[in-house]
Order: sequence, then C-alpha cells, then structure tokens
Amino acid sequence: MIDFEAFFKITYGLFIVSSGNKTKGNGFISNTVFQVTADPPRFAICCNKNNFTADFITRTGVFSVSILEKDTSPEIMGRFGYKSGRDFDKLQGMSVKYGETGVPIVLNESIAYLECTVSQTIDTGTHLMFIGDLVQSAVLESTKEPLTYLYYRQVKKGIAPKNAPTYIDKSKLEASKPSVTFKKFKCSSCGYLYDEETEGVKFSDLPDSWTCPICGTEKSDFIEV
Ligand SMILES: Cc1cc2nc3c(=O)[nH]c(=O)nc-3n(C[C@H](O)[C@H](O)[C@H](O)COP(=O)(O)O)c2cc1C
Repeated sequence: MIDFEAFFKITYGLFIVSSGNKTKGNGFISNTVFQVTADPPRFAICCNKNNFTADFITRTGVFSVSILEKDTSPEIMGRFGYKSGRDFDKLQGMSVKYGETGVPIVLNESIAYLECTVSQTIDTGTHLMFIGDLVQSAVLESTKEPLTYLYYRQVKKGIAPKNAPTYIDKSKLEASKPSVTFKKFKCSSCGYLYDEETEGVKFSDLPDSWTCPICGTEKSDFIEV
C-alpha cells in the first residue's frame, strides 16, 4: 500500500534554479535542491525534461540556485513556477546578477545563492538530475528565513504543478482518501482553481487573509464552480 501523505512528510526548501548566459537565460521554481557532498561542495537539482530551463542547463553546463525567502510573493511563485520561459522572458524586469560563469542569478526575494557547473547528469525518467560543483555562493539577507515547502503548502496553501517531482496525481490521491463532498473555487482574476479535494482543506476553513497562490487575489474574490 502507498500512503501519499507519507511523501508530504519529507522536508524541502524552495528555490529558483536558473541557467543560460548574459544573452538569454531562464529559471524555474524547484523544491528539489540539496547538497550531495561537502568536499568538494556539490549540489543536486532535479529538472523536468519538459522545462524550458532543462535545455539551458544541458547546453551551457551551468546553473544557479536562488534560495527564496519565507515570504516569497505569489507573483514570483507564479512567474517562475507556473509559467514557461517558452512564452515570455522570465528574467525581464527582474533583478539579475551574472555569475563567474555568466549564469544569471535571480536576486528578487532571495536570501542567498549558489553558482554551479554541471559535473554529472543523471536521467531519472521524467526528470534530469544535474549534479553541480560549486563555483561560488553568497548570503544576501542574513536575518531572513528561507521558504520551506511545508510552509508554502500549509500556510500559503500553495501546490506543486505537474512538472514538479513531488506532484501527486489527483486520482491517486483520491483513492487514498475517504469519500466526502468537495467543492471547487475559481480565482476571478487568473482562473486558478482551488480544489478542496486535492488541498485537503475546505475553502471555508482557509483564513480570510489567504490569497490566490498564483496572482495574490483575495479569498473573497473566489467563485464556487
Ligand atoms: C512549489 C513548486 C515546486 C516545483 N518543483 C520543481 C522541481 O523540483 N523540478 C521541476 O522540474 N519543476 C518543479 N516545479 C515546476 C516548474 O517550476 C514549472 O514547471 C516551471 O513553469 C518550468 O519553467 P520553464 O519551462 O520556464 O523552465 C515546481 C513548481 C512549484 C510551484
């Protein structure tokens, strides 16, 4: 038997993984970044093969990791986590620093960053795991806390989309839950759908201060569908 709730007990951070160069770059939200060795310092990231950023990392052999602050805005999560760089220039208008390798590093709402060169690529099926040797790292905000996946899910009521390794298919989740009536609520601004069944929390139980994880629209502007 597989209890998908057990998966949610694994802790993660949340990051913007970027790649490319000064001419063209791109980045995506990732919760799968972790240190794999101390000497030399090496870090792994897991990138869906369909992510636009995957092509950049494969082509340039470099990536950066921006470690997001606890109160990262829905705009940053929406821009880098729910939209693709195939449709618009995600780095346009962002505060970007270029690393020693020329890789773009997003500074917005980030407390620290890492710059890495790819030393190994592992094909895991849907995702490529890139192992990177550290080139440089720096702290941007020493007093702020990092955003965790748990905080994003439980407090911000955010979810992971299909390309995230931690995405759980709705039908599989349904099968492991008791049958009760669930409702869906749509954001009147961006169309984001809050599904009580997937979220496991009734819409009415969300605090009044809750806002759309995509565009920041207020709870009162959601419509039941
Ligand atoms: C909370 C969250 C966690 C995510 N984690 C990952 C991840 O670890 N790996 C991944 O490939 N995509 C992950 N994604 C999905 C990508 O960020 C998303 O597909 C993005 O739009 C890809 O952008 P791109 O096509 O411009 O590269 C995550 C998204 C969110 C919101």
